[in-house]
Amino acid sequence: MTIRTALVNKVLTIEIARPEKKNALTQAMYTAMAQALEAANTEAGVRAVLITGQPGIFTSGNDIDDFMQRPPSLGDGEGGAAAETPVAHFMRALLDCDKPVVAAVTGAAVGIGTTLLLHCDLVYVSDEARLAMPFVSLGLVPEYASSLLLPALIGHVKAAEKLMLGEPFTGSDAVDCGIANAVLPAGEVVNHARRMAERFDALAPSAVRETKRLMRAPLRERIRAVMATEGALFSQRLRSPEAVEAFQAFFQKRKPDFSKF
Ligand code: COA
Repeated sequence: MTIRTALVNKVLTIEIARPEKKNALTQAMYTAMAQALEAANTEAGVRAVLITGQPGIFTSGNDIDDFMQRPPSLGDGEGGAAAETPVAHFMRALLDCDKPVVAAVTGAAVGIGTTLLLHCDLVYVSDEARLAMPFVSLGLVPEYASSLLLPALIGHVKAAEKLMLGEPFTGSDAVDCGIANAVLPAGEVVNHARRMAERFDALAPSAVRETKRLMRAPLRERIRAVMATEGALFSQRLRSPEAVEAFQAFFQKRKPDFSKF
C-alpha cells in the first residue's frame, strides 16, 4: 500500500509512502487520497486532515512513467468532456474539503507536491525541504491553478523564477513567499503539524468550516476556471515532443535536449 491513512485524535493522516520511488504519485495513489479526503469531509469524527510524506521526501510529484504510459485523454479535467482523471479527482476533493487541511512537508516537494500546498490551510516545512514546480523542464505547463495562485501570492517576477525557470526554493523561501507557515527541524515537522491539526478539536467545527468556506469563496470559481484551462493545455503538452524528450531524459538520467525544438 502506498497511501496510508490513520485517524488519531480526530485528525485523519494521509501519508504518502512510496519511498523507493521518492513518493511519486500513481493514479491509484491519487484515487486513494481523493477517497480519504472525501470521507474525512463527511465524517463527524474527523476535525482536520494532515497530509505528509516520508523522511527526506514529501513527494516527487506525478509518476513520470504514468505520464508516459497513461496520459489523460484530451478533454480530461474540470471543463473537459472525458471522464475525470484520478489526479483531477484528488485535486477536486482537496479543493472541496471544507475541513482544515494541514501539510507536513517532510522533504522534497516537486510538481504537484508543491502545487497541492497552495490549496492547504496550514503548511509546515522541514528545514531539509526543497520545493519546485519544474513544469517547463518537463515540457509542461503549470497545473491546478498554480499559474493563478502563485503570482497572486508573490508577484509576477518571483513566480516567474519558480514557474518559468523552474527554480527550486527552500522552506524559508516558502515561508517568505506566504506558501508555508513555518520551517521546523526535519525530525519535528510532522509532530508540529499534527499538534496544529489537533488544535481544531477544541474549536467549534461548523465555525471552522464556514470560516474556511468564506476565505476560499472569492477565488473559488476563478480557480476552477483556471484549472480547466491549465488542464486542457497540460493534457496536450503531455503528448508534445518536448515532454516526450524530457520524460525519456529523466529515465535515462541525462539532461533533456530542447535545442532541436
Ligand atoms: N516518477 C517516477 N519515478 C520517479 C520519480 C517520478 N516523479 N521521481 C523519482 N523517481 C524514481 C527514479 O526514477 C528512481 O528510480 P530507480 O531507482 O528505479 O532508478 C528513484 O525514484 C529514485 O529517484 P532519484 O532521482 O535517484 O532520487 P534523488 O534523491 O537523486 O532525487 C528527486 C530525488 C525528487 C529530486 C528526483 O527524483 C526528481 O527530480 N524526480 C522527478 C521530479 C519531477 O520532475 N516530477 C514531476 C513534476 S511535474
